[in-house]
Amino acid sequence: MVTVVFPAAGAGRRMKAGMNKVFLELAGKPILVHTLLQFSRSSLVDNFVVVVAAEEVSFISKLLRGIPGLKPLKVVAGGTERQYSIWNGLKAAPEEAEILLVHDAARPLVSLATIEGVIEGAREVGGAIAAVPEKNTIKVVGEDGLVRSTPPRNTLWEVQTPQGFRRDILLRANEQAEEDGFLGTDDSSLVERLGVPVKVVESDYRNIKVTTPEDLIIAEALLREDYGGFLGLAKAAAKKTAAHILRQ
Ligand code: CTP
Ligand code: MG
Repeated sequence: MVTVVFPAAGAGRRMKAGMNKVFLELAGKPILVHTLLQFSRSSLVDNFVVVVAAEEVSFISKLLRGIPGLKPLKVVAGGTERQYSIWNGLKAAPEEAEILLVHDAARPLVSLATIEGVIEGAREVGGAIAAVPEKNTIKVVGEDGLVRSTPPRNTLWEVQTPQGFRRDILLRANEQAEEDGFLGTDDSSLVERLGVPVKVVESDYRNIKVTTPEDLIIAEALLREDYGGFLGLAKAAAKKTAAHILRQ
């Protein structure tokens, strides 16, 4: 059995919408619903645990009951940090789930290939995470504002979710993190501390985390599948410009 835990208990502060950003509607549906429908398309996924703020549990349960086509799901209360929310969600996952995935509710554009690649990677290796090769040059900067070093870009990957693990590994990693008071910025960092290998599954650049207002513009366009259209238009315009220049 494969269970997916969706942390959705954040406040969405950087979005500045005055509400939890996962309820914002894009292309006619709340972001959270887009995300859950996408995972519902995979035959490798069995059920969900949706983690929301304690005061939102009853509202979300009702909202999701009205959406046809979702996998069976439980709604549970989260915590003050993403890691605590996920830990609550993991404790609510069915005991029969031998593979546990974690996916940010705020990433509605994940592809089916990425979801299934992470599940297969977790089965094979024990842990697998979605990621894309870094596009930018990244600097390590000291507190004095001076550059310390420039890690070679070809070694850098930008990590996304889903992140999937064998149940025993992920539960042990969370127990150990809790015992040590360790707070990581992703789930894999908790597992890495145990010395367990984690496989990187190449995802795509569409799988953005909707975080700041400008991400809404990008996500809306991508959800409407205008992307191919934009590329076609941009290419056609470039050809027209080139033809015009060559005629001069
Ligand atoms: N999340 C959560 N519990 C928290 C904090 C975050 O379940 N205590 C969830 C968010 O709802 C989101 C995901 O973790 O789906 C990724 O977190 P992030 O993008 O940081 O969302 P927020 O914490 O809501 O946004 P911000 O940091 O801007 O306040
Ligand atoms: Mg946050």
